Amino acid sequence: MAKSAPEPTRLVLCMVGLPARGKTWIARKIARYLAWLGYNAQVFNAGDYRRKWLGAGHRADFFDPRNDEGARARSEMAELALADLLGFMRLGGEVALYDATNTTRSRRDQVRARCSAAGCTVVFVESVCEDPSILEANIRETKLSSPDYAGIDPEDAVRDFRQRIDHYAKVYEPVHADEPASSVRLIDVGRIVVLHRIEGYLPARLVSLLINLHVVRRPIWLTRHGESTHNVEDRIGGDPDLSPRGHRYAAQLARFVRRQAMEPPVVWCSTLRRTIATCAPLAVPAMPWRALDEIDAGVCDGLTYREIAERMPDEYAARRKDKLRYRYPRGESYEDVIERLEPVIIECERQRRPVVIVAHQAVLRALYSYFMDLPRERAPFVEVPLHTLIELVPAPYGYVERRHALAIEAE
Ligand code: SIN
Repeated sequence: MAKSAPEPTRLVLCMVGLPARGKTWIARKIARYLAWLGYNAQVFNAGDYRRKWLGAGHRADFFDPRNDEGARARSEMAELALADLLGFMRLGGEVALYDATNTTRSRRDQVRARCSAAGCTVVFVESVCEDPSILEANIRETKLSSPDYAGIDPEDAVRDFRQRIDHYAKVYEPVHADEPASSVRLIDVGRIVVLHRIEGYLPARLVSLLINLHVVRRPIWLTRHGESTHNVEDRIGGDPDLSPRGHRYAAQLARFVRRQAMEPPVVWCSTLRRTIATCAPLAVPAMPWRALDEIDAGVCDGLTYREIAERMPDEYAARRKDKLRYRYPRGESYEDVIERLEPVIIECERQRRPVVIVAHQAVLRALYSYFMDLPRERAPFVEVPLHTLIELVPAPYGYVERRHALAIEAE
């Protein structure tokens, strides 16, 4: 199992911070990472409850702490979100992210007491923004497209949202070291990270994700190696060389990256010949990484699927039945591949330059499903054809993809 936690997990990550501090972005990123690792994780966003039950479009005065009616309504919505969160944990949820402002100490005390009574550990994740450019970008990129401002002039919307922030700021009490809970304080999305009483397997593991977060927008390019001599014969695994077409793809890939990359990219490949050869024409040296090696097909290595079906029909059938969990005899499963790719994900999150990953079908399916937030069950079925570059471009809450089928010139 990719998550391999030594103890049962019942964790509530409670976001803290003024509006437009990237809480939702952080919460979703954590949830995506955990779901990819196999945890049952879910985000509960108080703003979504408000929009669902009270309708979207509340202007700043609704959030004024002197507006008793607004305060009561907001508190009810936060309660509904918390009640659903606790219901999720009761039904076997492992990690819940409570995405709300939780700006006062009394509110945090209540949340902690309710979660502890339900047997859950609470970690506060506070996001603070001292850099006005991050704040401005966040307001313009995420808040203007919120249903709260549908049809409103963008400058009016920005003014109103800033007033909303001012209202929250009047009552905001940052998490204090004497609060009896674990906390992570992120200043300017990872510029400074302060950890307080972080203990336990999963909180410690999450810290390695959180300390590597940043908001620099750079593309991630994923591609399989060029066609190999095994591909020509439909054989899996092995360590074959590129075919002549595969070499032409490598040249085409280098041309594409040279044209598109605004700055020299970081290039990673596997330790197998076909990815190393695909990277050879690139202007920057590639770092070979064993974690990027193709799924180990064990006793099936070097066979075609037809040969597997004929010689090992039970194995063939077992794989078709559960492709995610099926492990080749003396080889790996997709779940094993996901587990070994975790350091690649963390390193990719850390990189601020464009990243080119030249790897293999199963490995790229696993990486793609992380970036595109796909359910794990879908990972083994992602289309990753040869000679196609998948470009992932950061979007407000994830990535959007563009696929480039690179034309290969005839010999
Ligand atoms: C919202 O209603 O948009 C946010 C509620 C909160 O967490 O304060």
